[in-house]
Amino acid sequence: MSSFTISAAVLMISRPWFIMFLLCSGPLKAQLGTTPNIKHIVVGRCFNYITLVNPSLRLDCEEIWRQFEEAVVRQSSCNVTVEDYNHMFYAMAQTWPCDRFLFWSKTRTLMHIYAAVVPHYWTLEDTLVGYMFNDLIWCGQEEESGFDFSSCPEWSACRNHPVYSLWRQASQNFAEMACGNITVLLNGSIVNAFSRKSMFGSVELESLNACRVDYVNIKVVTNLDGLFIESCSEGSIVDLIQILQSRGFRWTCTDNEETLMILQCIKNPKQASCQTCANSLSQIKSLTLN
Ligand SMILES: *[C@@H]1O[C@H](CO)[C@@H](O)[C@H](O)[C@H]1NC(C)=O
Ligand SMILES: *[C@@H]1O[C@H](CO)[C@@H](O)[C@H](O)[C@H]1NC(C)=O
Ligand SMILES: *[C@@H]1O[C@H](CO)[C@@H](O)[C@H](O)[C@H]1NC(C)=O
Repeated sequence: MSSFTISAAVLMISRPWFIMFLLCSGPLKAQLGTTPNIKHIVVGRCFNYITLVNPSLRLDCEEIWRQFEEAVVRQSSCNVTVEDYNHMFYAMAQTWPCDRFLFWSKTRTLMHIYAAVVPHYWTLEDTLVGYMFNDLIWCGQEEESGFDFSSCPEWSACRNHPVYSLWRQASQNFAEMACGNITVLLNGSIVNAFSRKSMFGSVELESLNACRVDYVNIKVVTNLDGLFIESCSEGSIVDLIQILQSRGFRWTCTDNEETLMILQCIKNPKQASCQTCANSLSQIKSLTLN
């Protein structure tokens, strides 16, 4: 298997809305099996999380693994529903503080940098379930118990893909918990920055509760090379705002917030558009040099 196929498949796992996209765009060539050593990875990440990341959490990692295994291996490889994960999610219930929820779509790289410099943000990947299963692949075997390490079905072949069902439920839980001010980071350099087929557009938005959420603060960010395709007043983001309004949410929307542009400039300081941030950049440089 070429490394290209592997990294493509990993990308798809780590970006669940890609699955939706692929469901609509025909068969996928890559057919990887369950990630080797999945039990050690999942249980190890769980212990890491409850010991070092969030020590206040009192959860039983072995029990969570048992419930996960039960959900996946009892079913045929293409038939794991979100309900099959109910016991597992019950075993890993977690609450999050308000005003910190960060949702995103097609801005993964920038989101990671943003969440790292504005540490109060929480994304799905900061939750226990997101932390444990990020980038992994799994499926059971037809007619046998255990994981299938040789190949897992294509997304398009499945009504209920085991990986997709888990991320769908995790995303729904995350959005249902969202409270206070929430932030949505969208990519203004693509068509359909807000897509009803993305995990945000199809699952998370539906699960947000207008009684718990004070403001939906949308941040649209474009690439430095100046592909300005969508903005707060253009394209699909206008549809998002309309949906929010009709459901009684208060909202704000900002285009290319300075912090987000500076973060991109740090990675790519030679870009012409970074000259507009020159003052802030030289401040940062002098900070770094001191
Ligand atoms: C999928 O699961 C449901 C309920 O668990 C079961 O009724 C159905 O027969 C299964 N389908 C396949 C193809 O295994
Ligand atoms: C927007 O999407 C494009 C295409 O997927 C990607 O290359 C780019 O990095 C994204 N921009 C941001 C700011 O995340
Ligand atoms: C919530 O967002 C609104 C609108 O952006 C802002 O005025 C308010 O100060 C924010 N509240 C908190 C607690 O961040």
